[in-house]
Amino acid sequence: MIAYVDGKFQDPREATIPFLDRGFLFGDGIYETLRTYNRRPHRVELHLERFRRSASALAIPFQVSDDELTRIILEGIASVAAPSEVVARIWITRGPGLAEYDPGAGPCDPRLYALFRSLTPPPESIYLDGVDAGTLREDKPHALYQVKTTAAVPQILALMRARNKDLFEVIRVNNLGDVTEGSRSNLFMVREGQVITPRLSDGLLDGITRRLVVETLSSQDRTVEEATVPLDALMQADEVFLTRTTVGVVPVVRIDDTTIGTGRPGPITTNLIEVFKSWGRET
Ligand SMILES: Cc1ncc(COP(=O)(O)O)c(C=O)c1O
Repeated sequence: MIAYVDGKFQDPREATIPFLDRGFLFGDGIYETLRTYNRRPHRVELHLERFRRSASALAIPFQVSDDELTRIILEGIASVAAPSEVVARIWITRGPGLAEYDPGAGPCDPRLYALFRSLTPPPESIYLDGVDAGTLREDKPHALYQVKTTAAVPQILALMRARNKDLFEVIRVNNLGDVTEGSRSNLFMVREGQVITPRLSDGLLDGITRRLVVETLSSQDRTVEEATVPLDALMQADEVFLTRTTVGVVPVVRIDDTTIGTGRPGPITTNLIEVFKSWGRET
């Protein structure tokens, strides 16, 4: 594992951040997670574009160019011992200031941090047998659901709910009874051959893997419908799957007490898993 702090690659156990960094004090920062396939950062341009969108949503000015960010990412990846794949996380905080909410109360100099570690693949059984998920009713999605802020407590609490029940994930349901996303994943369902995913405006992150699934299916002449998905409809799906950068596509075979489809990963999900795996084999 290697960190990038203050413009230098360092051992993360020894790297320090300023106590007054607003990212630490108030969660006033944003981040991005990407991964390699075959030791190359996958679709880095999509991640950097979302990184900039997140920074601009919080009005954090930062001057680092995409070329410089890519250079740091490539160097960080190369520092992790081969042959494992690598997870890269990059953060921008508003930087150290006065310990006041008002960023205008003192100078703030945005700071870039990064961390690179080996990607530990999840057990193969999650792809072969699928996983169980629960549901979590929430109030209205919080205002910044589209932004990857470092203030990730709602996601952390949702994930803890899943872990306490020994579930892979919880599926969040908004105040209207419609499905949004997982604690840290997006969600798709298949019904009579039609692939459907909740609309961004229902309260979910514009996941990069969600985009990759749409792209992959469209290259196979299959369209994905973005639609509001009531929880009842999800429960009657033939297939349900989750998507996240570090795990790819994961079939869900049970939600609360309901078996999804046949209780086994379905053909569309299995095909997507194969396509994602093939990226790791490409030379
Ligand atoms: C709330 C939330 N939704 C969806 C995702 C999946 O996004 P991506 O595919 O870009 O990893 C994440 C990833 O961490 C997340 O935190």
